[in-house]
Amino acid sequence: MVWDTDSTPISNYRFRRLRNRLLFFYFLIIAAILGTFSAAVYLLVARDRNQQLDTHLRQVTASSTGILEIIQHEYEELTTEDKYQGYVPVGNNGMPVPITLSQLMGKYQAKSASQIAVSPLAASHQGVEWYDAQRRLMVREGGLFLQTSLPSNIPQQGILMQAGNIRSFTKPVYAVSTMNPAQILGYVRVTESTVTLEAELHRLQWSLIVGVVTVSGLAALGGIWLTRESLKPVVQSFDQLKQFTSDASHELRNPLTVIRASIAVMQSHPERIHPADMEKLISMASASAQMSRLVDDLLLLARLDRQAPDQSGWRRIALDELLEDLMDLCRDRAEQSQISLKFQLVPGMEVSGDASQLQQLFMNLLTNALQYTPSGGTVMVSLQRMGTHALVTVQDTGIGIAPEHLLHIFDRFWRADQARSRYEAGSGLGLAIAKTIAQRHQGDITVQSELGEGSRFYVKLPLAG
Ligand SMILES: Nc1ncnc2c1ncn2[C@@H]1O[C@H](COP(=O)(O)OP(=O)(O)OP(=O)(O)O)[C@@H](O)[C@H]1O
Ligand SMILES: [Mg+2]
Repeated sequence: MVWDTDSTPISNYRFRRLRNRLLFFYFLIIAAILGTFSAAVYLLVARDRNQQLDTHLRQVTASSTGILEIIQHEYEELTTEDKYQGYVPVGNNGMPVPITLSQLMGKYQAKSASQIAVSPLAASHQGVEWYDAQRRLMVREGGLFLQTSLPSNIPQQGILMQAGNIRSFTKPVYAVSTMNPAQILGYVRVTESTVTLEAELHRLQWSLIVGVVTVSGLAALGGIWLTRESLKPVVQSFDQLKQFTSDASHELRNPLTVIRASIAVMQSHPERIHPADMEKLISMASASAQMSRLVDDLLLLARLDRQAPDQSGWRRIALDELLEDLMDLCRDRAEQSQISLKFQLVPGMEVSGDASQLQQLFMNLLTNALQYTPSGGTVMVSLQRMGTHALVTVQDTGIGIAPEHLLHIFDRFWRADQARSRYEAGSGLGLAIAKTIAQRHQGDITVQSELGEGSRFYVKLPLAG
C-alpha cells in the first residue's frame, strides 16, 4: 500500500475553496483595520490642519483689528481734507475706491509705508480688509479677497465662513472699553486660500490609499503562505483518509466477489441445501449484494475525490439518448411498483463528459425517484435548454423531503428516517456521488421538495461548444 501524502498540498477543490475563503476573510479584516486606521489618521490630520488655519485667521484678525482705528483716522483725512483731494480714487458710483496700506501711508513718504506693505499680512494667498462702521470698505491689503459684501449678522466674537476654497473670518471692532454694539468702529475681514491645505490633504489621502492597498497586498501574499502552511497537515490527513477508503474498498472487493460467487453456486444447487437454511442463504445473498454496492460506491467516491478531473477520456454525449437508455432500464422496475414513468426530452443537446459517470449520476436520481415514490405515483424526466446549459429535471410525486433535511441530503451516508423504513438497503451515498459527478462536469444539482408532495431534482450541465 502506498501512502501518497506528498501530493500537491491544496489539491482538493473543497480545500481550495476553504483556503480562498480564509484568505478572503483575512484580507477583508486586514483591509478593514488599515482602512479604519487610515480614515482616522486622515480625519485627525484634516481637523488639526483646519484648526491651525482657523487659529491663524483669528490671529491675523486680532492684529489687524488693533490698527483699524489708525486706518480709519488716516482714511478719513485722505477723503475729507482738501489738500488730499484726488488722493483716493473714486469709482463709477462716485464712492472712493478702497486703497492699499502703502497707498494709505504714502502721504508720510515711503519709509513707514513700505514697512507695512511687506508685512506678513500681504501674502498673495491671504487678504485683509478694513471696513468702517457703515460697512464701507476702506483699505485692503494682500492678494486674495472675497467679492461679496460683509455678512449681515456678525456676532461679537466674529464669524468663520467658507466660500469655495476661500476661508474668511470677519469680526466687528468696538471702541475701546465698551462692548456696546452702538459703539462699533468698523469691521475687519481676513481671508485665506484653502487651496494649499486641500492639496496637502489630497496628497495625504492618496498616500494613505496607496499605503492601505500596498500593505493589504503584502498581507494577502503573507496570507497565501500562511493559509497554505496551516492547511498542509489537514490536507495531508484528508488525503490519507481518502487513500485509506480507496484501498480498503479495493481490498474488500475480491473477498466479496468470492462470497457472492459461492452463494450463487450454492443457490444454483438447492437440492444440496437443507430447506431450513434456504432463507439464511437468501439473506446472505442480499447482504453481500448490499455490501458490494456499498464498496463500489465508496471506491467510486474515493476515486472521484482523489483524481483531478481528467477530461482526456471525455466525449460528446447526446443527453436525450443517454436519458432514454436509462429510462428503458428502469421501465420494468417502474411497472412492478406501478409507477408511471414519463419523459419529455428536447433532442440535440450534447454535453462533454464521462459517459459512465453521467449515467451513474442520472441513474442515482432515477433510482431515488422510484424508491421514494409509492405505487400509483409518477416519475417524470425532462430535458430542456437553459442558455448555455442543459437542464435535466427528475420529478416525482413521492414522499418528499422535509425542509430541515434538504441541507443534508447530499451529505455522505445521510438518510432520512422515512427513507430508511422504505428502503433498508440504501447507504446514503447515491446523491453524494451524483453531486460530485455533476460538479466535476462543471455542473450542479439543486433540489426542491415538499414533504408528502414530491421532489424535483435539477441537474445543470454546460452544453458542449
Ligand atoms: N426522490 C426523493 N424523494 C424523497 N427523498 C429522497 C429522494 N431522493 C433522496 N431522498 C432522501 O435523501 C437521502 C439520500 O439519498 P441517497 O440517494 O444519497 O441515499 P439513499 O437513496 O438512501 O441510498 P443509496 O446510497 O442506495 O442511494 C435518502 O435517504 C432520502 O432520505
Ligand atoms: Mg439513492
